Amino acid sequence: VHWSAEEKQLIASVWSKVNVEECGAEALARLLIVYPWTQRFFASFGNLSSPTAIIGNPKVRAHGKKVLTSFGEAVKNLDNIKTTYAKLSELHCEKLHVDPENFRLLGDILIIVLASHFARDFTPACQFAWQKLVGVVAHALARKYH
Ligand code: HEM
Repeated sequence: VHWSAEEKQLIASVWSKVNVEECGAEALARLLIVYPWTQRFFASFGNLSSPTAIIGNPKVRAHGKKVLTSFGEAVKNLDNIKTTYAKLSELHCEKLHVDPENFRLLGDILIIVLASHFARDFTPACQFAWQKLVGVVAHALARKYH
């Protein structure tokens, strides 16, 4: 994947303003609410019985932060995303058996969270760069599937 200087700058400038804890929690909560079948992977997280329960669930919050923090590794290693996620791809594939389609869904949800947080500052050019990034991350995480 090639990143133009402008794309790199747009990704970095959005990321520098992201509250990883807030946005991570919101993205994972939205995933679980909007695509309820994803709850299956998080049975150990306790009460996921309603949107309110999901949003208030501390394990969802903590894991959302963990996932978005890990997303930050992609932001820091734009030219090396495949290697960055090699281990995580193995985990999600061989141990967790998460259908890779769900990586795309989470990526799209993250875009929605960013758009709602940054409103007009999340310009079409920003969205383009971020859409490309979430696509590359989803691809890297899906790499160890066979
Ligand atoms: C665990 C990242 C998408 C399900 C993890 C961990 C990270 C991570 C960093 C913790 C690994 C560890 O403890 O060593 C990501 C990233 C994603 C992503 C960057 C996409 C951008 C998903 C999706 C699902 C999922 C879409 C399911 C729908 C899980 C589960 C665990 C996990 C079930 C283990 C949770 C636990 O019991 O602690 N992921 N993940 N992940 N992930 Fe993901």
